[in-house]
Amino acid sequence: MSTSQPLHGLDIFSDIIEKAVAEALEVHPEEIKLERPRQESFGEFALPCFRFAKKYNISPPELAQQLTESLNINEITTSNVGPFLNFQINQKALAKKIIESAQQPKYGSAQEGKTTIVEFSSPNIAKPMHVGHMRTTVIGAALSRIFSHLGHNVKKINHLGDWGSQFGKLVTAWNRWGDEKKISDSPINHLLELYVKYHNEEDGDPTLKDEAKKIFKELESGENNKTRETWKRFTELSLIEFQRIYKIFDIEFDYLRGESWYESDLENLITWLKEKNVTTISEGALIVDLNPEGIKTPALIKTAHNTTLYITRDLAAAKSRWEEFKFDQSLYVVGAEQTLHFQQLIAVLKKCKVGWESKMEHVPFGLIRLNEGKLSTRQGRVITLYEVIEKAIGLAKTSIKAKNPSLENQEDVAKQIGVGAVVFHDLKHQRQKNVIFNWDEVLSFEGDTGPYLQYTHARCCSILRKSNFQPSKLSEADIEDLAKNSELWVAIGRLPNNLKEAAEKREPMILAHALLKIAAAGNGFYRDNKVIGAGSEKLEKSRLLAIDTLRKTLELGMQLLGVPAPKQM
Ligand code: ARG
Repeated sequence: MSTSQPLHGLDIFSDIIEKAVAEALEVHPEEIKLERPRQESFGEFALPCFRFAKKYNISPPELAQQLTESLNINEITTSNVGPFLNFQINQKALAKKIIESAQQPKYGSAQEGKTTIVEFSSPNIAKPMHVGHMRTTVIGAALSRIFSHLGHNVKKINHLGDWGSQFGKLVTAWNRWGDEKKISDSPINHLLELYVKYHNEEDGDPTLKDEAKKIFKELESGENNKTRETWKRFTELSLIEFQRIYKIFDIEFDYLRGESWYESDLENLITWLKEKNVTTISEGALIVDLNPEGIKTPALIKTAHNTTLYITRDLAAAKSRWEEFKFDQSLYVVGAEQTLHFQQLIAVLKKCKVGWESKMEHVPFGLIRLNEGKLSTRQGRVITLYEVIEKAIGLAKTSIKAKNPSLENQEDVAKQIGVGAVVFHDLKHQRQKNVIFNWDEVLSFEGDTGPYLQYTHARCCSILRKSNFQPSKLSEADIEDLAKNSELWVAIGRLPNNLKEAAEKREPMILAHALLKIAAAGNGFYRDNKVIGAGSEKLEKSRLLAIDTLRKTLELGMQLLGVPAPKQM
């Protein structure tokens, strides 16, 4: 752990332990890697002694025993269990330091200073965003927020699918069958309908194909012709629908750069690839053979008909991003089904010996399925993301009406609960695993759900509201009393480390689970400790301080995940 970073939460203690143990073992503190003890009752940290025992030519349990006897760390008790050295923080010191730390406005933040590109969402123009797009959108946004909190200079890019020969087909279909009324009523549905019709008619009508080719050529020419205008209109109409969804999720991008944005770079890119001597011609097409890189499928850069491809534009995009941002890391949050594509992309750049391809990383995720086993409506249509959110909000509204009919702002709160439920459900799963979307589970107020976190947070708000809470000083608190709740302080205290781990592993699930732990400990706290009317003013004040700390931590974590935190529900 670098010492120049401010320390937060339990890291304050692990830093002290690492330094003391390093001194005793005569090694660099970086070499001391603390773990979680096998049992929570052993303490907050553990050190496996195997590696160091070798150095001293004694057995690991012997070393653990010796260190237990010799180490003397302020406010920390050492014990040994077999080859492990355990560290337990004095409860009063724990409560004090963690409350103080978590009360800071930027709890768990760091100053990493790296430039991190997070490319996510990237839906295709003229098609509705379906539930599959939810994962990239929600995971990408959460990772962006976590990296920002850790002090990275984050660039959020939406690589819209707005280019390719399919737009030749779509404009052709529009020219033949387009309906002004339909497109103004429901633009994306009409575009989808046209696209489907084109494919249904293509085989029976050979003129369609030729026309689509001609139209795409017109588009590729870069001229400001009628085709380009039509394509632009489709793009704009699609963006309006996408923005509606981003607004619901409270997501903003720094760059909305579709594939077309790199169109003018493509010729230069191809020249560059040729100069790097990595291309060959195969059956008239320009390819990069990746066999030497261990990838059997070559990267197809230009077809025999001279059109560029998805990967051509991704190469241009990667190069342009490198030149513009000189990124330290560039993440692509895209489904696991595109793994080969990203392997090829990185391998081509490696073959070109750019050096920066090692900073690029595909961050894949599993599929999402509805529990009824289908993603289509009865009409055979794919369920759109918008429909899923609408349904979640609707169900949340019904639940509020039943549970808390007098609640104010029911519309707003229902929206927050619906969005929070859907987002949290997605993020609590390990990124790479497939997710089954079960409505009852998503919206449940109990168990590992978004509404459960929201409920815990709202409960804190209600206690603070009823008591007219004024922020009080830690120095005036009854630390003796607060110290009894070490489970809560440990859960809150682990958050800064959990955030770093979530960023390193590109895994928002780590934060989601940390919040569930905090909420569970928090629920235990207000179940076991009377807050309002605690007995004495001092006691009430300290417990309110605890509730306030809990609330702030939950709010921070939820905000980073993208789960709204209503004050009442
Ligand atoms: N538009 C693509 C799709 O919806 C995803 C783009 C992913 N990003 C990339 N740089 N290729 O499948």
